[in-house]
Amino acid sequence: MKYLILTLALACGMLASCGNAQDRTDMEKNETVENLKTRRSIRAYQDRMPPKEILEQIAEAGTYAPTGKGSQSPIIVAVTDKAMRDSLSRLNAAVMGTKTDPFYGAPVVMVVLADRKYPTYLYDGALVMGNLLNAAHALGLGSCWIHRAKEVFDTEEGKALLKSWGIEGDYEGIGNCILGYPAQEAPAPKARKSDYVRFVE
Ligand SMILES: Cc1cc2nc3c(=O)[nH]c(=O)nc-3n(C[C@H](O)[C@H](O)[C@H](O)COP(=O)(O)O)c2cc1C
Repeated sequence: MKYLILTLALACGMLASCGNAQDRTDMEKNETVENLKTRRSIRAYQDRMPPKEILEQIAEAGTYAPTGKGSQSPIIVAVTDKAMRDSLSRLNAAVMGTKTDPFYGAPVVMVVLADRKYPTYLYDGALVMGNLLNAAHALGLGSCWIHRAKEVFDTEEGKALLKSWGIEGDYEGIGNCILGYPAQEAPAPKARKSDYVRFVE
């Protein structure tokens, strides 16, 4: 009897410690959290076009970003057409007054725009951008937020593009998520500032 109790106690202890070890592992190395921490902006790309299924998955992840009151105020325009991608690059460069490619050679640009009639449109659009960047990393693609979408789509040429894409309404450019296979190692992240997080307990 004594041995039976001892054996049971040992087995329970082992189970409990296994559970704790599992909990610790989950807390320390959660795959989603690791993905969020290891995503970096990629600024050199291979020519090769990623498969459409991957791009669809990334775009779909974008559509699941939270939006104020569930308004789904943003839209995503996935551009894989080389001529259109180059036009967007040129318009973006013009805002900066340069002629270099602000898309760093990436073959794909997902333009996020959001409907200004919703009070949370900017936040909504930024979260969509975040989802795209993180989903791209999870699926093995490089990405980078390229700015100046607002300026580009506020120009007459930008507005004409929206019209040609069948987009009507008061849409503001939030960001361009460039995508492709990286042609560089991901850079190391900058150290996080020491007072980034403050707990009030
Ligand atoms: C709102 C916003 C605008 C950005 N615009 C550009 C841009 O125009 N060009 C660029 O190369 N990177 C741009 N970035 C990428 C940032 O430079 C990058 O996120 C930052 O340096 C941190 O690096 P990480 O993304 O690798 O963590 C932008 C990022 C954000 C959030």
